Amino acid sequence: METIVSSVAPPNIALIKYWGKRDDLLKLPLNDSVSITLDEKTLASTTTLVLGAKLGKDRFILNGKEGPDSHIAEALLLIRRRLGKKYPLIKKPVLLLSSNNFPTAAGIASSASGFAALAQAVAAAFGIKDKKEISILARLGSGSASRSVFGGFARWKAGRNKDGNDSHAVQIAPRSKWPEVVDVIAITNPERKKVSSKDGMERTMRTSDLCHCRLGIVGKRADAVTRAIRSRDFSTMATLTMRDSNAMHATMLDTWPPVMYMNDISRAIVYAVHEYNEKSGQTKAAYTFDAGPNAHIITTRKEAGKIARMLKKIPGVQRVIMAGVGEGSKAVETPKKTKQLLKRLLS
Ligand code: PMV
Repeated sequence: METIVSSVAPPNIALIKYWGKRDDLLKLPLNDSVSITLDEKTLASTTTLVLGAKLGKDRFILNGKEGPDSHIAEALLLIRRRLGKKYPLIKKPVLLLSSNNFPTAAGIASSASGFAALAQAVAAAFGIKDKKEISILARLGSGSASRSVFGGFARWKAGRNKDGNDSHAVQIAPRSKWPEVVDVIAITNPERKKVSSKDGMERTMRTSDLCHCRLGIVGKRADAVTRAIRSRDFSTMATLTMRDSNAMHATMLDTWPPVMYMNDISRAIVYAVHEYNEKSGQTKAAYTFDAGPNAHIITTRKEAGKIARMLKKIPGVQRVIMAGVGEGSKAVETPKKTKQLLKRLLS
């Protein structure tokens, strides 16, 4: 008899970014990062994992297409190393089906939601309830995924241990603390990035002098943003968010050869947000960019409509998606459609 488990996990947007590792394989970061978990009804990965079926090898079906995936294979290898002794079933070939409710081509990172969903499914299979452990399992797939396990606002602690057992996310505030926060996402280029975050951050750490300057101050910024979230101080949170995004992208430009993820449209959005805040006489919105040109504008429900209209007017903005604060990864019933597909695949 096979074990079939399913899970759902959303992406998150980092306010204080992770860019640089102290251990490449285990994905141990050099600094703490802080993020907002996005609403899983708007953006999410749904994953089904089949364990103990008679399969010759691991099979991955992503958004309906079957094929090898080195990123998932590496994550599974690390998860098996971590859990194999206690849960030998994980060592047997698995069938993994995963799909996103947002177009993969939208340019929104799917690695955080995808690997958090995988970790949550593995946890469901073995009855692992400890969120810290699930966060560690997610981290083994992709660092930023460690934060998507928690709802609301999360902080991924860099930790110090070589084995990474102290490098996991924690919740710093639940969604209910600040449900008015919204991420208005402007898609400026839906294509896949040319330099992966893995390669980009490795190159920055190897060649940038400026990154050491950022690493010297980013811990204090993570503390300050944590305090701002807990006291619902929007303008402090927003200012720190914009400054850390700019600081991270400055280290990318200082990388040799440089890595540039933002484009002219991203820069036009930066100016537009500053103008918006200046005209409002208050900091009501903050931009932040991950390893890509799409803008995340952090604002409140009250401002979100106006911000969306402003973004749509900027030439080159292709679409705007609004996501609230979410509840993090969770185990779910296997969707009917997936059950039918599994019947065919496993017969
Ligand atoms: O975990 P990765 O490999 O997807 O790297 C994420 C890096 C950034 O998105 C740029 C920053 C972050 O903290 O999410």
